[in-house]
Amino acid sequence: ARADALPQDLTGVDVLISAGGTREALDPVRYLGNHSSGKQGYALARVAAQRGARVTLVSGAVSDPGDPAAVDVVHIDSADELSREMHARAPQADVVIMAAAVADFRPVDVAGAKIKKGEQGPAPIELTTNPDILASLVTARSEGTIPATTAIVGFAAETGDAEGGVLDHGRAKLRRKGCDLLVVNAVGDGRAFGTTDNTGWVLAADGAETGLPYGSKTLMASRILDEVVSLVPDRKG
Ligand code: CTP
Ligand code: CA
Repeated sequence: ARADALPQDLTGVDVLISAGGTREALDPVRYLGNHSSGKQGYALARVAAQRGARVTLVSGAVSDPGDPAAVDVVHIDSADELSREMHARAPQADVVIMAAAVADFRPVDVAGAKIKKGEQGPAPIELTTNPDILASLVTARSEGTIPATTAIVGFAAETGDAEGGVLDHGRAKLRRKGCDLLVVNAVGDGRAFGTTDNTGWVLAADGAETGLPYGSKTLMASRILDEVVSLVPDRKG
């Protein structure tokens, strides 16, 4: 679809999106990382810009680089850097979307020089927990650092397990994080739960649950932004 054929329902809205995976350094040349492609976050950034938003994309490592058109892109490596960039920019944003795959843990020590193989074999890597950026943005909003009107959106990929199905895990995570919307993607065997034509849901803090259709990341982005628009005060009016 041509960009100007899309609804311009995000005109005047500032949208801050994180995407891609973080890299947690072990030494100057090595890191712990993940397989995030960044595609969903990039699709959100592109479609939001096409719908009139001013978009800033804070990007970690992605599989298919190439900055989307009409979007300000900031590149980061680690969860700590991502946290700093998001907290610096969130006060100016009307919508904050955490689509990044943030490493839960990072090495305690980062060697200043390249680690040598040596003769003793590998040393264990001690890890520590990274800050929960999404939860800290919600806290910053409740403390007044971020305007109360800012909509905060999280993402979760879940499988069903002995504790419950994909939706049960999603609902629990939404409550735990305290964000306004949580986009829950069913992955692995969990996909068999729920209905066959849903790849996931957008769960809202008010209890509304909207199924996401099976389709491209662009289509998913459009449906997710439809839910975001319903939370944003009308900028044009
Ligand atoms: N997230 C974050 N900071 C972290 C970890 C996750 O901001 N340190 C964000 C992600 O960007 C995503 C949401 O929180 O929007 C949910 O991520 P997820 O990994 O599903 O949540 P966790 O709380 O890390 O729970 P889990 O044990 O299931 O990994
Ligand atoms: Ca996690």
